[in-house]
Amino acid sequence: MHTMIKTDYLVIGSGIAGLTCAHLLSEFGNVLVITKGELKSANTYSAQGGIAAVIEKEDSFESHLNDTIKAGAGHNKESAVKYLVEHAPKAIRFLESIGVKFEKTPVLEACHSRPRVWRTSDFTGRDILNQLIKTVQKNKKISIKEYIDAVEIIESDDGCHGVFAREGDETELKPIFAKQTILATGGFGQLFGRTTNTLGSGGDGLALAINAGLELEDIEFVQFHPTALDLEDKGKYFLLSEVLRGFGARIVDQDGKQFIQQFDPRGELAPRDLVSRAVFFELMNGPVYLDMRHLDEKVIKKTFPNIYKQAKEYGFDIVNDKVPITPVAHYACGGIPVDLKGATKMPGLFAVGEVACTGVHGANRLASNSLLEAVVFSISIADSIERSVEIDKDRDPEIKDIKPPEVVIEDIAQVKAYSSRIGKIMWKRAGIIRTKEGLEQAKKQIVEIPARDYRIQHRQLVCYKILEACLNRPHSLGAHYISDELA
Ligand code: SIN
Repeated sequence: MHTMIKTDYLVIGSGIAGLTCAHLLSEFGNVLVITKGELKSANTYSAQGGIAAVIEKEDSFESHLNDTIKAGAGHNKESAVKYLVEHAPKAIRFLESIGVKFEKTPVLEACHSRPRVWRTSDFTGRDILNQLIKTVQKNKKISIKEYIDAVEIIESDDGCHGVFAREGDETELKPIFAKQTILATGGFGQLFGRTTNTLGSGGDGLALAINAGLELEDIEFVQFHPTALDLEDKGKYFLLSEVLRGFGARIVDQDGKQFIQQFDPRGELAPRDLVSRAVFFELMNGPVYLDMRHLDEKVIKKTFPNIYKQAKEYGFDIVNDKVPITPVAHYACGGIPVDLKGATKMPGLFAVGEVACTGVHGANRLASNSLLEAVVFSISIADSIERSVEIDKDRDPEIKDIKPPEVVIEDIAQVKAYSSRIGKIMWKRAGIIRTKEGLEQAKKQIVEIPARDYRIQHRQLVCYKILEACLNRPHSLGAHYISDELA
């Protein structure tokens, strides 16, 4: 990296939120996208479900809004949900305008009153990201730099000026100055031992925000997805989309019996937090399976070609066998609080996608509202930056004579070992079932990890905040389930 880089807009992260923002902001200035890994390493790439939107005339915004709030256990910010659902058709049109080809009919996922999830196939995230990558790569006003890690926000009295970043294996940080910085770094599933999130989902954006003095919101609401193919012996978990249950897939116990109905009459299509807990409890008695053997083989293979193929590569035939499942950490419902324009409390700093907390998800996100939120609020950020009179579009973001912070970089094997230790602690103590004592213990165990490397220190910081947020909410709500709440 050259000693110093300056840009109009700095976008950190290359998933659906980051690249949508980059594309839209390029209309107003130069954009630099930095990403920690390679472009395609974003979590969006593995998103299977789709995008929820009211397109059909039999459907209504009111119904989408009510479903979102019901799934979110009423903890949602209603004004944000209203904004989300009313702007969903525009988000779909935007994606179509860059070449995403949605199927003609929507599908059903849990807690939606009717089918309204638009997909391109069973790997919708991958198709969207491929189109976005094509779009930004041919845009001359967008530069993309891979393997750049944003380590600290550069701030002064007038807000954010960009970030100090590390390129590849370098040991020194360099400043990247920007008039406006957009955090689109994704979630933190990797802080939990069991997740289908990609390796980059370690809560990086949250660590940047915490270190810059920003508060976080709703981070105790970690959504666990109930049906990941359990490949524990390979150290992996592979998502089996909720859309499969929308098509009639059953969750069964070791005797082949359905059991979710004992917890909720909606059975397999009950809210995700509830189904995850039911599966988790049943796993104490023995293995739990997803069973599709009663469904039409041809339909399943045609509707879920990628899931079928991928599971087969892992040695499982989803149409002819029941397959072992486990819940996994899936999505952060909270994050850095932002307003409807994606603005954080710090001037010059925006957040969008999973790293942000718009309040739309409440205590438990409704299926397929996440890709939607990323697009809707990226459009909103670009619109508001264009129209804002408060934002000084000519401000020189450079700060002279600033010294980048020094960071310690430990051996990668050591970093991995500490990450794995963190994952075990968080899964055991801040996972699907939490107790006050377990959370307190986890706090101690997390700070005791003698890490000096900044990457682990960032993870420790975010975990600590998650644990504190859990402890600050002594009663269960949505995805936050605390079993000794009455003690
Ligand atoms: C899934 O396909 O089950 C995940 C969809 C989502 O998280 O919204």
